[in-house]
Amino acid sequence: MKEFWNNKVVVITGASSGIGAALLTELSGYPLTIIAMARRADEILLPARSHSHLKLIRIAIDLQDPSSIDDAVSLFPKEILGIDVFFNNAGITAHGRFEDLHMDVFRKTFATNFFGPVQLIQGLLDRIKFAKGRVVTTSTVSALYGVPGRAAYSASKSAMHAAMESMRIELMEEGVRSALVCVPYTKTALRKSGLGADGKILDEEQANRKLKTPEEVARLLMKTALEEQPRLVTMDMSGFFLKWMRNLSPSLLEKILFKKLYRDFH
Ligand SMILES: NC(=O)c1ccc[n+]([C@@H]2O[C@H](COP(=O)([O-])OP(=O)(O)OC[C@H]3O[C@@H](n4cnc5c(N)ncnc54)[C@H](OP(=O)(O)O)[C@@H]3O)[C@@H](O)[C@H]2O)c1
Repeated sequence: MKEFWNNKVVVITGASSGIGAALLTELSGYPLTIIAMARRADEILLPARSHSHLKLIRIAIDLQDPSSIDDAVSLFPKEILGIDVFFNNAGITAHGRFEDLHMDVFRKTFATNFFGPVQLIQGLLDRIKFAKGRVVTTSTVSALYGVPGRAAYSASKSAMHAAMESMRIELMEEGVRSALVCVPYTKTALRKSGLGADGKILDEEQANRKLKTPEEVARLLMKTALEEQPRLVTMDMSGFFLKWMRNLSPSLLEKILFKKLYRDFH
């Protein structure tokens, strides 16, 4: 199935750091075209030993700014008619108790994790349809239930789930697929760039938990892109547990989340 990637057109948002940068590295061994997007587009780097027929196109985009998204869509190379895989990966986190979260934090988190990606996908949808392409969203286990201390993040990601599910059903007959991959804690800069309840940049290290590596996540995202009908993909017990407990016993689930994350939201 490795041949799948040969000569494909792949978009990666958030390619300047973390999981998106790892995706770029994992894909760099194939002869394909990658359109890599981020605000820091000039910091998007290819490994030295990339495939000689790999073509990398960097496009600067600020997902919080609708006019920047329009610009990015208009800068998309006209000769590229189809997008085979759109990795909807860019995102920010936001920490804080619901009662303390400034409305601007909700707005910025939704702008980056929901409105921006939706506008970008809409802008590129003709190309995704042309290729009968697939949208693979880097989501989070925090989208599977409203996690304490993460109201804005959980809400923005689960809103994206609903939008991508609607799109999937509407475009089923046109061959477009959409997968939501619920990633657990991963060692990236997510807490560096995330927002605190007051809207200031968090600038924190990842919590001292067992962390996935960005490379492990990137490989799962690539594997998901190859699947016939991927929908909601979880990576470990945390995602599996949240997915099932939501329906089986939400009261027990909430008690567990309260206890397990108590220090996190107090
Ligand atoms: N790390 C985790 O524990 C974890 C767990 C579950 C899910 N995820 C998800 O994984 C995805 C990737 O995050 P990461 O962990 O790799 O964190 P990261 O290292 O901070 O990377 C985030 C990427 O998103 C881009 N981005 C952020 N704001 C943007 C904006 N306004 N416009 C355009 N691009 C923007 C950043 O690029 P620029 O700053 O250059 O714009 C960067 O490339 C996110 O959607 C996140 O929610 C992460």
